[in-house]
Amino acid sequence: MDKISELRAEFEKKLTQIADLVDLDKLRVDYLGKKGSITALLKNMKALSNEEKKTFGAEVNKLKGYAAKRVDEKIEELRKAEVEREIAAMPQFDITAPANTARGSYHPITLVQRQCESIFKSMGFTVEDYPEIVTDYECFEAVNIPKHHPARDMQDTYYLTNGQLLKSHTSAAQNAILKKYGSRLQNGVPIKAIFPGRCFRNEATDANHENTFFQMEGMMVDKDISISNLIFFMKTMLSEVFQRDVKVRLRPGFFPFVEPGFELDINCLICGGEGCPSCKHSGWLELCPCGMIHPNVLREGGIDPEAYTGFAFGLGLTRLAMMKYKVKDIRDFNSGSLKALSQFTDDE
Ligand code: PHE
Repeated sequence: MDKISELRAEFEKKLTQIADLVDLDKLRVDYLGKKGSITALLKNMKALSNEEKKTFGAEVNKLKGYAAKRVDEKIEELRKAEVEREIAAMPQFDITAPANTARGSYHPITLVQRQCESIFKSMGFTVEDYPEIVTDYECFEAVNIPKHHPARDMQDTYYLTNGQLLKSHTSAAQNAILKKYGSRLQNGVPIKAIFPGRCFRNEATDANHENTFFQMEGMMVDKDISISNLIFFMKTMLSEVFQRDVKVRLRPGFFPFVEPGFELDINCLICGGEGCPSCKHSGWLELCPCGMIHPNVLREGGIDPEAYTGFAFGLGLTRLAMMKYKVKDIRDFNSGSLKALSQFTDDE
């Protein structure tokens, strides 16, 4: 019996010195394992009488149960201590500190895009979404730029290894939209759609050029659509955006998917037309290439160019945002600089 209480005291003493789970398991094995000291007591019972065996055995089993329970308790205790250590190591928060109430703001390009969308929606246009990764067919062939045509050089395109490419202009969606709405034309429903999107070109960047920029393409197809319709929608939209009558000019411009094609320029609002780096000292900013949709493009979209005509434009949304917010360097838009980007709101 002395042996039992001795062992119990010894176990208890060792247990208090244990500081981690690995040591605790060693201790468990030392006492309760097959070759452990408590188990060994039972093996030494042979010399005892039957009566003694009974009481001694019961005592040893009691010790066994007790030791197992103490090991479990110790596990709990060590885990708790571990959690407490982790909590203590965590940075302290002052829950009474006043909340940071500074609100985020929309990116200036988002603001301009939304404004253009609502203007065009009010004039009956639908707003379409389109992927940024497109095929060669969508981006070029469907809009009258065959393979190896020199017009491809106008857009230094990022090709992917799988043959697809990063959309170099929003015109990549023209074909899909003509196909989507073409069947309604016979029922007298014109195609009126805008499709904003991010575009990519391998540009040498400067204050006026970026490799990632936003355009907003627009198309209208119906019977008897002419350049006057195009000019009307462009003027209406721009005077809404700038809240005044902006000066525009049309110059002839070449794009394979329009005929005739134009460059619509607006009077540089940064320098007022006197000339500055943003307008390359010309007083005018190229804002919106446009034109009458080429018959080949209509045909490729499943629309009879003898029966229907249409206009298309490719508004430079990024450039429009520069004009509207008087941003001198296009690179500020992608800079991630909150100082530059957070000063715009849509409630002006
Ligand atoms: N896709 C042309 C470009 O990005 C712009 C454009 C669109 C021109 C529609 C005419 C008509 O260069």
